[in-house]
Amino acid sequence: SIVFLNDSFVPMEEAKISPMDRGFLFGDGIYEVIPSYEGMLVGFAPHIERMNNGLREIGIDFAWPVEKWREVCENLIEKNGRGNLGIYLHVSRGTDSKRFHAYPEGVAPTVFAFAFDIPAAPVADKTLAKGYKVSTTRDLRWERCHIKSTALLGNVMHFQHGFERGANETLLFNANNELTEASACNAYIVKDGVVATPPLDNQILPGITRFILLDILRKNGSIKVEERIITMDEVFAADEVWVTSSSKEIAPVVEIDGKKVGNGEVGDVWQAAQTLYSAGKH
Ligand code: PDD
Repeated sequence: SIVFLNDSFVPMEEAKISPMDRGFLFGDGIYEVIPSYEGMLVGFAPHIERMNNGLREIGIDFAWPVEKWREVCENLIEKNGRGNLGIYLHVSRGTDSKRFHAYPEGVAPTVFAFAFDIPAAPVADKTLAKGYKVSTTRDLRWERCHIKSTALLGNVMHFQHGFERGANETLLFNANNELTEASACNAYIVKDGVVATPPLDNQILPGITRFILLDILRKNGSIKVEERIITMDEVFAADEVWVTSSSKEIAPVVEIDGKKVGNGEVGDVWQAAQTLYSAGKH
């Protein structure tokens, strides 16, 4: 595949980064994944805005005009076959001459981007949808989960927890047994037709799929939405559970720790929400 590294497009094999890059040594960087279906980027502007917020928050002085990022994304899409792609963007603090924790002065950030295949967007049909199985565990990540940091070991270990148990994702609960999110997705419950998802704070990533979905549901008005604290008991008593991310849109969860969610089948509210999302995503 053709990737982007520091202002040029090169074959993946030719893209080289120093081992002294702080992204490698410290996981010191910010990343994004933007979905693109047959050339249509979803959530482009809010993805770039979230990346700029992250860069500002960790003191990386780097902001390209949005148009420059769009050019990089569109080039990657064209050079990599225009299919269903996740566009990965990554800005690390850059390559230093020494390994010293403090932010270096005068070091240029490293910019890397590539495209990878993602599944076609889900068809909003509950008889065709793939039901997810998830595991659960205590959320042991840091208290800055709103930053989309490339330091993903906490998320990786949580994902692996579920993976080893045959699950597709892992739902995370804080010390008060409140739902936070999943290892690489936001999380939702549906009870009596009402969708609920945890509020935005330092415990979760402000997902762009979440942002677009809530916006579509609120504007449509046929499904009620709440952003509020959700307890573990509510998750196990839910009629439906969903997880969302850029590479999967809304994924219906049918099993948690081997227990059925609702009747164990993909639900009607999922079908209604995915229908609205498919039609209204932008
Ligand atoms: N994951 N929460 C976490 C911890 C995530 O890593 C992600 C995204 C989300 C969903 O955010 P969005 O809707 O903006 O994709 C929530 C990406 C896709 C990844 O790391 O591959």
